[in-house]
Amino acid sequence: MVKSVRVIGVGGSLRAGSTSRSALRAALDGALGAGAEPDLIGVRELDLPMYTPERSVPAAARRLAEAAYACDALIWSTPTYHGSVSGWFKNALDWLILLAERDPPYLTNKPVGLVATAGGIQGLQAVSSLDFIARALRAWSVPLVLPVAQASQSFDPEGRLTDELVGTQLRELGAEVVRAARQFQSEGSCDYADARQFADPGHRWPGAA
Ligand SMILES: Cc1cc2nc3c(=O)[nH]c(=O)nc-3n(C[C@H](O)[C@H](O)[C@H](O)COP(=O)(O)O)c2cc1C
Repeated sequence: MVKSVRVIGVGGSLRAGSTSRSALRAALDGALGAGAEPDLIGVRELDLPMYTPERSVPAAARRLAEAAYACDALIWSTPTYHGSVSGWFKNALDWLILLAERDPPYLTNKPVGLVATAGGIQGLQAVSSLDFIARALRAWSVPLVLPVAQASQSFDPEGRLTDELVGTQLRELGAEVVRAARQFQSEGSCDYADARQFADPGHRWPGAA
């Protein structure tokens, strides 16, 4: 029997027409197309207070942490703010400290797809920040990442995705996350499909002697 793959998408911004949220939706559509059960958790709706260890844990933080722990894979999508992730998005992930004492802790062995939208050209910096966070939380970032630069060219003013190529890339990322999750389910680890050819002893990098 094929096990279901539960993918949660976390992200977006506080703006009504959030491009990072639309990008997340498209990536989750790709996950759905690959046979997963996707669920979108927008940071705007979560409305979490800033993390502090002294306060009682808000219900929304517990809901986020439990969803993250129960799922098989995640997709994160943040706006690029000053060369990194937004504070609101990072704060949501900081609440995952609720998973620190679990066995296994945090997001152990869960693949994460990384997406960022950017007004300029710095989306890759935000994706790299996401990668650091993924590793800190014991997750595996999927090598295929998607920084959407100059987002106003790919989304309309209401935040709707208008760029078919970007839409296709986001859906491919979602499908890749599902593939990685299935591999973790069956083998307990995962590789990178596109890198398999490089494991072939007969393969030579272009230009290599
Ligand atoms: C506080 C702030 C900082 C930003 N910093 C950057 C940046 O460093 N590089 C960049 O390319 N875009 C930057 N932008 C533009 C946003 O990344 C861009 O508008 C993004 O699409 C917003 O995502 P959203 O539509 O989900 O709100 C910044 C926007 C704001 C509001």
